[in-house]
Order: sequence, then structure tokens, then C-alpha cells
Amino acid sequence: MKITVIGTGYVGLVSGACLAELGNIVTCLDVQSEKIAKLKEGIMPIYEPGLDSVVLRNVQAGRLFFTDSYEDAILGAELISIAVGTPSADDGSVDMQYIEAAARDIGAHITEYTVIADKSTVPVGTAEKVEAIIREVSGVQVDVISNPEFLREGHAVYDFLHPARIIIGTTADDAKDRMLQAYEHVDCPKLVMDRRSAELTKYAANSFLATKISFINEMAVLAEEVGADISDVALGIGSDPRIGKDFLKAGPGWGGSCFPKDVRAMRHLAKQKGVPLPVVNAAHELNEQARIRMAKRLEEKLGSLDQKKIAILGLAFKGNTDDTRESASIEIIKYLLNHGATVIAHDPVAVVAPNDLDGYELAHIDCPYKASEGAHAVIVATEWEQFRTIDLLKLRKSSAGDLLVDTRNLFDPARAKEAGWQYLSIGRK
Ligand SMILES: NC(=O)c1ccc[n+]([C@@H]2O[C@H](COP(=O)([O-])OP(=O)(O)OC[C@H]3O[C@@H](n4cnc5c(N)ncnc54)[C@H](O)[C@@H]3O)[C@@H](O)[C@H]2O)c1
Repeated sequence: MKITVIGTGYVGLVSGACLAELGNIVTCLDVQSEKIAKLKEGIMPIYEPGLDSVVLRNVQAGRLFFTDSYEDAILGAELISIAVGTPSADDGSVDMQYIEAAARDIGAHITEYTVIADKSTVPVGTAEKVEAIIREVSGVQVDVISNPEFLREGHAVYDFLHPARIIIGTTADDAKDRMLQAYEHVDCPKLVMDRRSAELTKYAANSFLATKISFINEMAVLAEEVGADISDVALGIGSDPRIGKDFLKAGPGWGGSCFPKDVRAMRHLAKQKGVPLPVVNAAHELNEQARIRMAKRLEEKLGSLDQKKIAILGLAFKGNTDDTRESASIEIIKYLLNHGATVIAHDPVAVVAPNDLDGYELAHIDCPYKASEGAHAVIVATEWEQFRTIDLLKLRKSSAGDLLVDTRNLFDPARAKEAGWQYLSIGRK
């Protein structure tokens, strides 16, 4: 099938490359011409394990193309997937400008019946609005369906090709059939439902997962007080299949490009509808506290953060990605800076621009040991696999102080102690 994917970010590029891998002929479109120029040269605009080889293989096979021209991208497409950003607006609602612009541009170039699948995470009712815009601009009959995406950054290629389910939000048979054909070779349940239910499913899924993390973080605080180990508690409860082991890792709260903005959007929607959401609201509030709790514990230990040098290991919101959007690490750094500390950072791939730190020019060092040189304390903020095997003795020798704050529980407390650290972790004695 001839498919166009609009937006070549974490979702769009992965979707485009994987839809080509499934045998479709795919054109990926983005308004950022530089991104498209780089993709044509085989340069990936994001760090996502395994993505480059899928892109290369499908470009070479003549199944994957890149363009910045709506005219070229829309012509002849049987299915158009929208994967543009849907960031938060200042009031917590969703900033719909990219979705609306894409709808208008599709409308300006479409000439025949086409199915438009909305893969971006969007408020309930968006498919109807996008359909109305396209029909108004083009006068062409289209079906807009909701097809929310659930991939995880860092595992995006695998997740796209092996999803737990595919949600197809439509009551139009033609549209449903096209979607089933495009995903014919993906072996998973394909759940067909109405558009509004599909749109709400995505927000409900992310709110539920965020709540699960907030719950275990709440238990972690209690575990510290009663002398229990939160990792054991998580294993103990997660082994019950009714609960499940995933999303039960205590840490510095949920961040990234999805959970915070999607929970905000969910809360905004509920407020508009006059529906109280006490569970989701509590999860959000707990998360605000979780993000800086360890920075506060460090402050308590040091007496004051003023003029202290702190090394941060990890900037990405989780391991295996370069994405720092709403990363807990950034919140921790801001707290440290606001309390007078100097911060030096190391991350295997991620960087943080001064814009994200109120103008502060963060020193990025390419080695964890060098970043820790002369530091009063070291904070591990991202669960990169390579941090797990870090030489704690070597790290201790390069650091001036002996405080190691592990916001991801990567190390064995006994090993950290042996290496000479005062070790602060989450939810453990
Ligand atoms: N990142 C994730 O892990 C993830 C997972 C599931 C769902 N989502 C959802 O998918 C959507 C996209 O997220 P992302 O992380 O890929 O965003 P992103 O910011 O990485 O990429 C969006 C891309 O869309 C392009 N774009 C913006 N307006 C455009 C337009 N009018 N025409 C063509 N291209 C345009 C941008 O230039 C950018 O390259 C969001 O709604 C997000 O909530 C994201």
C-alpha cells in the first residue's frame, strides 16, 4: 500500500521506516527541510537503537522516501498517517497548531478519497475536527480515523513491529479495511472501536502507567521510613499477574515527551467536562514531589547546595534515548542551580540546551569519571545500562565528596559502601 507519514520525529520516522519494513511503499514528510535533507543522506535526526539499519534497508529496497513537499507526499497516497507533535499549551490543554496545519495542508493537496490515520496523541474529538478541516479545504470525501501509537522511545522499532495491540478508531468499513491491510503482517490483536474511544484509550493508557509509577514512588517513601526495600516490594506485588511487573520501578518520577503532557491534557479535558479525576490528579502531584525529592535529600546531607559542585550522570528522561523533554534530570539540575550549585553533566548521547535551563550553559563531559572530578556529590539521574557497570571505586577517587545519589537504584548498596560512598538510593534502607 502507498502510505504517507507526516512528521519525521520519534513516532513518524519509526512508523514510516517500519511500515516500509512491512512491505508498504512509504513517503515520510516533514516541514523541516534540513531534517529531510539529512535523512536523504542517511543521517538519522534522532538516536533510536536499530532505526538507522531499518531506514537504510528500506531506502535501498525502494520502499522508503523522504520529502518536504506536501504536493509530492499526498499524490497517490492511499493512507496518510499524521505523526506531528502535540505539545502542551500554557494552560495544560493541547497545542493543536501542528495538527491543524497538517490537516489544512493535506486538504490543499488531496484530490481523491483517502484514509487519514491520526497517530499523534490528540484530544477526544480531534478526528472529527481534522476530517472537517480537510473536507472544507479540499471538498474531497475522506475518512479520518484515530490510530494512537504506544511505542516506547529506546525500543521504538521493536515496539512498532511487535505491538501489544493496534487500535483502529473508526466506524467506516473502507477505512478499517485499509488499516488492516497496512498492518496485515503485524501479529497482534487489532482492536476496532469508535474514534472517541480510541482517542481516550491513549490518554487513559498513559495516565494509568503514570499513576502506577507514582504509586510505587509513594510506597518507596514509606519503605524508607519502615526499613523495607522497595525493589523487593515491587517484585512481590508485580509477580501477581493482576498487577504486573512493568512500571513498578521507583525513581525520580515520570518524565519524557508523553506522560507529563498527556496527564496534563487528561486533567484539562476532565476539568472542562466538570469531571473530577482524584486519582490522576494525585499521581500528578506526587510526581512533582518525586522529581526533586532526591535533590532535597542531597541538600540536607550537604547542609547547603550553595557553591557546591555536583556531577549529574544522565540527562535523557530514560536510558537508550537522546530525548530530554521533561526529563527528571532537568528538574533536578534546575533545583541545584537555583540553590547555588554548579552542575557538570555526562550523558552517553543526550545534551541539554541553555534554553531548557533558563539560560544556564551546562558543561557536558564525555566521560562519567571526568565529569565527577572534584564534585562534592554525584547524582545518577538516568538508567543508562553503561552506568550500571560503572567502576564505583574509580568514580569515588575522582570525586571530591563521598555522596552518591542514585535516583534509579542501579547499584548494590553494599558495593557502593565498599567503594567508599555514602549512598542514597530510593526506597531502600
Ligand atoms: N515520542 C514518543 O515516545 C511517543 C509515543 C507515542 C505517541 N507519541 C505522540 O506522537 C506524536 C509525535 O511525537 P514525537 O515525539 O514523534 O514528536 P517530534 O517532536 O519528535 O516530531 C514531530 C515532527 O513533526 C514535524 N511537523 C510539525 N508540524 C508539521 C507539519 N505541519 N507537517 C509536517 N511535519 C510537521 C516536526 O518538524 C517534527 O519533526 C505526539 O502527539 C506524541 O504525543 C509520541
